[in-house]
This record gives sequence, structure tokens and C-alpha cells, in this order.
Amino acid sequence: YIAEIDSTDIEKGTYPHFMLKEIEEQPFVMRNIITKYKDENENIKLDENIRQAVLDADRIYIIAAGTSFNAGLVGKEMIEKIAHIPVETHIASEFLYNMPILSQNPLFIFISQSGETADSRGVLVNVKELGHTTLTITNVPGSTLSREAEYTLHTYAGPEIAVASTKAYTAQIAVLAILSVETARAKGIEIDFDPMQQLGIAANAMDIFMEKKDELEQMARDYLSVTPNCFYIGRGMDYHVCMEASLKLKEISYIQAEGFAGGELKHGTIALIEEGTPVVGLATQESVHLNLRGNMKEVVARGANPLMISMEGFDEADDKIVIPRVNELFTPLVSVIPMQFIAYYAALHRGCDVDKPRNLAKSVTVE
Ligand code: G6P
Repeated sequence: YIAEIDSTDIEKGTYPHFMLKEIEEQPFVMRNIITKYKDENENIKLDENIRQAVLDADRIYIIAAGTSFNAGLVGKEMIEKIAHIPVETHIASEFLYNMPILSQNPLFIFISQSGETADSRGVLVNVKELGHTTLTITNVPGSTLSREAEYTLHTYAGPEIAVASTKAYTAQIAVLAILSVETARAKGIEIDFDPMQQLGIAANAMDIFMEKKDELEQMARDYLSVTPNCFYIGRGMDYHVCMEASLKLKEISYIQAEGFAGGELKHGTIALIEEGTPVVGLATQESVHLNLRGNMKEVVARGANPLMISMEGFDEADDKIVIPRVNELFTPLVSVIPMQFIAYYAALHRGCDVDKPRNLAKSVTVE
């Protein structure tokens, strides 16, 4: 691969921050991925060896750190639900010193924006020594993890400069979706949607939020200007997005934030809810949205200030954000967008350095 970079990618242009530019690039990134992963007959273009490597695996181990780990949580759910292969998603630094019992024919998938994260590379070196098959999903072909793994899938997001990762996350999820569907098809599993069409629908849904920035900025002001903490709750797919939403907020605004499984909060953490504590509820999954609404009632009864995000079709009057209807497995691509904007504006209004948050580096090359 040759990295395709042009000068506009590494300049902010009229944008005040790289993060804002990168959030807004996401619909283009989705469309770019659709183009790059289609062949001339409009079929999915995927290296035959990669398809075979996934088919041969009796279990997939996703290894990653930070935001890429959060994409890996979504990836697990996609691969299991679409391609019916068991998946474990692991934090690289934990796996490195505490390797679980492996299956007979594991496939290791490393997700890394930079392709340089030392913890992930440590695992790669170890599992290669054990003779296992390795695939890196990265935004930087030619990076260490890409060179050292047997196979690479490129996320085509363009250079990501802001320390807080945004477009790399959605690009990783899009590539994982394509990989899941191609694997399912090769296994003869019937899929009732076209993944490229779904990515296009997600891109259009993302676009809608680009027009709603003022509203999202106002929400960030109302909920997050002065608060010391904030909770995000969701179930299933939404829980994974809550993990990413809370990471985004704490990274750049320094608000103590936690992503929680909706049903788990009451088993301890609800003790932290006080009068006015912001709780963001995310409910885009039809099978659990009512349960999550129940969890929101529990926190509201203890004084929480609720910000409810739902999906068209089962939205309610008080919901602050309603995401357009998309396939349930693709909701993270859309629901994370308002979360990114809210984190961005919260940081901005708290006077934080959005692109270069304290104590953080874009890529961490020490274990
Ligand atoms: C650093 C960055 C995070 C990133 C993580 C993993 O901690 O600050 O934004 O998610 O590394 O990086 P990678 O390049 O492996 O995705």
C-alpha cells in the first residue's frame, strides 16, 4: 500500500481544531471506504487470503488499546452476530502479561489507528512466535503493526491529527462490518442487507448531525459546563458506544466520565448520582430500549439530569437526540457522532486544549 495523503489532510484549513475537522470528515470517510472496498463489479473487494484466514479461525482475538479497543468491542458483536464466529476483545496491555487459554486455530486481529502502539505490538510479537495468524486493521499501512502482521486491512480515514480519535473509530467499525459480511457470505450465511448500502445510509445519517452542531453545542453547555462528572449508560451495542463516548469526554474535557451497562449501574455506581449529575442514556436497540428507559428513570429518581438519545421508530417526546433509522448493527457509526460533538464542545467551553489534551500522546510507543 501507499498512503494517500494530500496537503489538505494535514492542515486545519478554516477549522479551529483538527478534532472538529476530523469529526466532520466521517461521512466522506465512510464513502471512501465503500469505494476502496468495491471491485469493478460492485462486489466487496477483499484479499482471498484474508477471507480464508477468517474462515479458518475457530475463534478471533481482537487486540487493541484506547479508542481502537472500543471499536473492537463493537467488532466482536458484529462478527459474532453476522459471521457466527466467537470473538474475544482484549486490552493489549492486559493480554501481554496475562494470556488467556487460546483456542485451537485462533486468528489475531490487531486494531490500531497508528499501527505503532507498543502494547499491541508486544502481543503481535508473542503470538507470531506461537505461530498464529495475524491481521492488522490500521489507518497507516507501512506502520510497524502492518508490516509485522501477516495481513493488513486499511481503514482509509486519512491522517488523524487530533489526539482524541474520531474518524479512525468509525472507519475501523466500517471495515469490521465489511469483513463480517464477507465472511458470512463465504460461510453461506444468509445476510438480508447490503453492507455497502448500510454504510452509505450511515454516512447520510452522520451528515444530518453536521447540520445540528449548534444544538449539540447548546447541550454541551447546558449539561457539561460546570459538572465534575458525567455518566453514559446503554445496553448491548449502545453500551460499547457509551464506553467510547465517556473516553472522548474525559480525554479532552477532563470531566470524570464513565460508560456503564444500563443494568449494572444500580449495583453500586448509582451511589454517585446526585442532584444534577448528567446521565446520557443511549437506546438505539429495539430489544432493550425499554429496559434502558427504565434505568434512566432510576437515575432521574435520584436527581440525575437526563440526556436521552434514541432512534427513530421508538423515540419519545422528551428524547434530546433522535438518530435516523439505521440497521441496528450499524448504529455505533451514527450514535457516536453526537457524542463526539458534545465532548468537543464541552472541552471548548471549559477552556481545554482540544487537539492536545494534557498527559496524552497520539501514539504510545512504550509499554
Ligand atoms: C493513544 C491515543 C488514543 C488511541 C490509543 C490507541 O492512547 O491517545 O487516542 O486510541 O493510543 O492507539 P492506536 O493508534 O493503536 O489506535
